[in-house]
Amino acid sequence: MNLLNKFWNTSARPDGRLGRLNLRFMNIAHTPMARWNLSLIAWQPAWTVLDVGCGGGRNLARLLRLCPKGKVYGIDISEDSVTYSRRKNSHAIKNGRCVVELGSADAMPFTDAMFDVVTAYETVYFWPDLPLAFAEVGRVLKPGATFTFSYGLKTDTAMRYWEEQVEAMHLLPVEEIKSLLTAAGFSHIHTTAKGKATINFRAIH
Ligand SMILES: C[S@@+](CC[C@H](N)C(=O)[O-])C[C@H]1O[C@@H](n2cnc3c(N)ncnc32)[C@H](O)[C@@H]1O
Repeated sequence: MNLLNKFWNTSARPDGRLGRLNLRFMNIAHTPMARWNLSLIAWQPAWTVLDVGCGGGRNLARLLRLCPKGKVYGIDISEDSVTYSRRKNSHAIKNGRCVVELGSADAMPFTDAMFDVVTAYETVYFWPDLPLAFAEVGRVLKPGATFTFSYGLKTDTAMRYWEEQVEAMHLLPVEEIKSLLTAAGFSHIHTTAKGKATINFRAIH
């Protein structure tokens, strides 16, 4: 594995110097994707929101601005991501408006029906057990609340390229993701594509 491959592979669970460099990179490189995905939701100022796979924490900062009277939680399986996200949002953490926890999408340390929205950007294709993780997202959402996430790539060529680069990445066809969401109790499943490289899912639980 060359250095570039090693760098891309830290995306699944950022760790060490390369991982921290990637967190910094993703905070910048994912900005257009994140802004577009966030623009698809009618945010309410007092919402309680969870960002799963929060990475470098820039989306937590955006969510804090979108919900200025609410509370924003982040969770990530990587200790380096948690540390980075906490540092990036230290002011909001001190003020009690932001909490960042170490943990996995398929076993989250949150009580039932806690969130108005759950977001997950550029992370779902790393989750090893999607049925369990989707059920877990459903559990922590309030009834009728929204799960929104970016998922993979529009073209097969682009999907195959990234699957070859990043070992832990497993991109499923859109219809399969929709079936898994339905099986986990989600309805009103919408997908919106932008350019060649982003699909947004929105679903209600
Ligand atoms: C490609 S990064 C994306 C980070 C951020 N969401 C963004 O858009 O910049 C993927 C993040 O998801 C986290 N992750 C991977 N599997 C996870 C899981 N099962 N549960 C929670 N977080 C996970 C990784 O540790 C990493 O921080």
